[in-house]
Amino acid sequence: MRLFLALEPPQALRERLGELADVAKVHCGGRRVPDESLHLTLAFLGEVPEARTEALSAWVARRPVSPGEWRLDAWGTFRGPGIVWVGGRWADRSLVQLHESLWDELEAFGFSDGPRHFMPHVTLLRRARQLETRNLPAVDLTWPWRRLSLVRSFTDNEGARYETLARSSAG
Ligand code: 2AM
Repeated sequence: MRLFLALEPPQALRERLGELADVAKVHCGGRRVPDESLHLTLAFLGEVPEARTEALSAWVARRPVSPGEWRLDAWGTFRGPGIVWVGGRWADRSLVQLHESLWDELEAFGFSDGPRHFMPHVTLLRRARQLETRNLPAVDLTWPWRRLSLVRSFTDNEGARYETLARSSAG
C-alpha cells in the first residue's frame, strides 16, 4: 500500500483552500485537487507491505502531537510535475521539527530514506499549464493543527484518492 503521514485541514480551512484552488485553476489550468483530498504531507512512506500497516496505524493512534499553527502566506510551484501549492514563505519550524522527529521514529519501522529537504506545502493543482503565480490573490490563512493522520493513496478512474487509516488523538 502506498502510505504517507499527513495533516488534514479543519473543514473551514479545507473550504478556503478549495476556493484558492478554483482561482488558481482559472489562471494556471491543470488538475485541481478535490476538496476532500487537500492535505499537508509530513512524510511520504511509499509502498509499504500490508503486514506493516497495522503497527504503523497503532503507532500513529498512540503518538502524542504538540499542537501548532501553520501560517500560509505564499504561493509556490514545483516545475517538474507542474504543481501549484500554497504554504509558508519559509519552511515552518514546528512542521520541520515534526517532520524530523517522525522520520527518526520511522527508523524503528525500517524506514530510513526521509527526504533531505522538506518544504511544507498544500498541493492545489497538478500538471498546471502555467506556473506564474504573480497574478493570484494574496494568501493569508492559519492552519491550527493537533492530529497526525496515516493515509493510504490509491488511484481509480477519477485519479488519486486518499483514505485515512489512523489518526492520533487530539492533543
Ligand atoms: P505532492 O502533493 O507534492 O505531490 C500523496 O501522494 C502525497 O505524498 C502527496 O501530497 C505528494 O506530494 C506526496 N508524495 C508523493 N510522492 C512523493 C515522493 N516521492 N516524495 C515525497 N512526497 C511525495
